[in-house]
Amino acid sequence: MTQFQGSHILSVNQLNIDAIQEIFAVATRMTPYALRQKRTKVLDGAILGNLFFEPSTRTRISFGCAFNLLGGKVNETVGMETSSLSKGESLYDTARVLSSYSDVIAMRHPQAFSVREFAEGSRVPVINGGDGSNEHPTQALLDLFTIQKELASRGQDISGMHIAMVGDLKYGRTVHSLSRLLCMYKDVTFTLISPKELAMPDYVIDDIENAGHKITITDQLEGNLVQADILYLTRIQEERFPSQEEANKYRGKFRLNHNIYTKNCKSNTVIMHPLPRDSREQANELDNDLNSHPNLAIFRQADNGLLIRMALFALTLGVDSQLEQHECPVIWYSQKASI
Ligand code: NCD
Repeated sequence: MTQFQGSHILSVNQLNIDAIQEIFAVATRMTPYALRQKRTKVLDGAILGNLFFEPSTRTRISFGCAFNLLGGKVNETVGMETSSLSKGESLYDTARVLSSYSDVIAMRHPQAFSVREFAEGSRVPVINGGDGSNEHPTQALLDLFTIQKELASRGQDISGMHIAMVGDLKYGRTVHSLSRLLCMYKDVTFTLISPKELAMPDYVIDDIENAGHKITITDQLEGNLVQADILYLTRIQEERFPSQEEANKYRGKFRLNHNIYTKNCKSNTVIMHPLPRDSREQANELDNDLNSHPNLAIFRQADNGLLIRMALFALTLGVDSQLEQHECPVIWYSQKASI
């Protein structure tokens, strides 16, 4: 059994299949709380330090909301300019101090490996909310959880599936982390579709190959999706490019809409995207005309993110066995039907 209590969650590499299944089992137990069917106050009195030094909507708010749903309080720091990091303070010092004010910390930062450096100074568990183009472990877990659920509803497993990853595979940290999680399963086929300049880094390709999986690498979308069970789209990570002009070269290169989907994919291919999707006209990588398509899983991914983050808080703070003991009823009107 993995020792979660008191541990940092910095990289998917620290997990194995048993640990992943343990996280998913706790995440599943979080469903009635996320749906507001009942409450748990298991983290009443606990404080989350939510430190986001890079733009974020879903990840930051779902970390905070997950903590609130377990009864805890959230202290937010958003943006480098409002923190003493902009005065030259080290990540170590910031961590040493802020960890005295928190029971657990979630952190996002633009530099690769910065969250690991921060964790070295922290006296409480640190959860990586994305470190530059390196990793995004909680997103990868929620993506994998979504894949497992979507495939299960089709009678399929993760082992043996075919995933097509599309877009900016060079700077997209979500595909780096997800690929490594998929290396823990058997017989996964990868089709990696990107402009040549934005190809998946060699170290991730090596991991995929060493796991014995099949890979096709191409810069063409159409004609390469026909076998895909999962189609995972990504945004051009413009903030990691040397200039906007450089990013503009790749924007809108790969687009999915209802027509392209119907022509190129199997009728049950699951459409995923970590979000935000770039909906500006020059990009429009995932068209609104698929919004009500039953195979569009993007909002289910975001909902699953809440469950995964609740599970990680419960596990790292060692209260996963006490959720039910601290339950109470929801007394307000609530109508959330499903996740
Ligand atoms: C992703 C990220 O921040 O890496 N977003 C997210 O956390 N859901 C993907 C992106 O920004 O394109």
